[in-house]
Amino acid sequence: RASVKKITTGSQALDGLLGGGIETRTMTELFGEFGSGKTQICHQVSVNVQLPPEKGGLSGKALYIDTEGTFRTERIKAMASALGLEPKDVLQNIMSIRAINTDHQIAIVEELQDIIAKDNTIKLVVVDSITSHFRAEYSGRENLAVRQQKLNRHLHQLVRLAEIYDLAVIVTNQVMARPDMFYGDPTVAVGGHTLYHVPGIRVQIKKSRGNRRIARMVDAPHLPEGEVVFSITNTGIRD
Ligand code: GTP
Ligand code: MG
Repeated sequence: RASVKKITTGSQALDGLLGGGIETRTMTELFGEFGSGKTQICHQVSVNVQLPPEKGGLSGKALYIDTEGTFRTERIKAMASALGLEPKDVLQNIMSIRAINTDHQIAIVEELQDIIAKDNTIKLVVVDSITSHFRAEYSGRENLAVRQQKLNRHLHQLVRLAEIYDLAVIVTNQVMARPDMFYGDPTVAVGGHTLYHVPGIRVQIKKSRGNRRIARMVDAPHLPEGEVVFSITNTGIRD
């Protein structure tokens, strides 16, 4: 694991939970309820990956697959300015692609192989969210098996990209917070499961007071379990 590199999230506490930051060669799943901050973290890491290594980045570019139309150029610019980076340059180094349905989302990831093979400066791939189109198109119990099969294949393709090209992959997954339905298993919630059958790191994001958020590491193979607090501020993700 010596060759794994890390991208800072902007919060030392969150980096600490992640063993230094978002890892290359790994898929990181951010799951949590609406408004918990999954998209904000994706935006911040897309900016931070562009920082030089001494500042917690990889001097790399990001590819952002947006399935919900929530990518915000203004937010990227604000985060870039806060780090003393040129907003226009930072925006240019984030290729955002709007995926309109599952087939489109899958096709985009299949084409990434060629794009990344030609451009080894891409160090981060985001899929925000990985599950929304799948849930909408394959709703109902009778479609569950097909949905899981398609989603699994899609996820494994992303994991392979991370491993082959030494880049970080972040996927988000909205999971409703309904404590009464947890049945004691934190990885099972209403509206879906975390992606427990795919190798990678799973982090639950929970709302706390005001702009505070709680991140919890879930069954990571090489990281200790634990919880930390971070904030979503006007300048981005911070302690
Ligand atoms: P879903 O996609 O609905 O599942 O939610 P999410 O987990 O992606 O939440 P998201 O990352 O969109 O977080 C939204 C929250 O981030 C808002 O409720 C705000 O608290 C915070 N936020 C977003 N933009 C800003 C901003 O410009 N300034 C500050 N201070 N907070 C912001
Ligand atoms: Mg979101």
